[in-house]
Amino acid sequence: MRQDEPLGLGHAVWCARELVGNEPFALLLPDVLVQSEGKGCLAQMLDVYARHGGNILAVEQVAEAELKNYGVVSIGKGDGRVFPIDGMVEKPKPGTAPSNLTILGRYILQPEIFNILSAQEAGAGGEIQITDAMLRLMQRQPFHALKYEGKSFDCGSKVGFLAANVAYALARPDLSEAFTAEIKKLL
Ligand code: G1P
Repeated sequence: MRQDEPLGLGHAVWCARELVGNEPFALLLPDVLVQSEGKGCLAQMLDVYARHGGNILAVEQVAEAELKNYGVVSIGKGDGRVFPIDGMVEKPKPGTAPSNLTILGRYILQPEIFNILSAQEAGAGGEIQITDAMLRLMQRQPFHALKYEGKSFDCGSKVGFLAANVAYALARPDLSEAFTAEIKKLL
C-alpha cells in the first residue's frame, strides 16, 4: 500500500485496512531493528499472544531524556516479562511520562483498531497516532506489554542507524574479525 500523504503512523496503518481485513495482525516499524540471540521479538510476542490474546506491544526501558521521542506505556502488576497495560501516551512532554517504558515499534493488534482510526483524529505533532487509537481500544480490549529479550536500534536517528550497521557487522562470522580490526584502527 502507498500512503499518499504523511498524515501519521495511525493513518498509514488505516491505509492497509482492506488488505488486512477482519483479522488480528502484526505491525512492524522497519526503522527499528531488533537483534536477538534466541527467538526474534515478534516470535516472543506471538508466545504472549497465545497465552493472553488481545493486543500485545513490545516495550523497553529508555533514559528519561529520550521518552519524549516515543509512545510511553504505564503498566500494572505483571508476571515475568509480561504486564497488563493501563495507559499510554504518544511523545509525552518532558517530565510528564507515566513510566520509562517505550513502545518499541512491534505490535500485535486486533482489527477493531481500524474503526477507531477511521475517525482520523490528529494527536501529537498534528499526526494521526496509532497510540491514541490504541488508548481508545484499550477501553474495550486487553493490552499486554512484553519486555522482550534482545537489543533494539532506532534507525530513525543517525546514531542508531550507524550503531545498527556496526552491531550487525560484528554479529556476522564472515565479517566480525576483519571489521573489528578496522574499527580498532579508527578508535
Ligand atoms: C512511532 C510511534 C511511537 C513509537 C515509535 C518507535 O513514532 O508513534 O509510539 O514509540 O514509533 O520507534 P515515530 O518514530 O514514528 O515518531
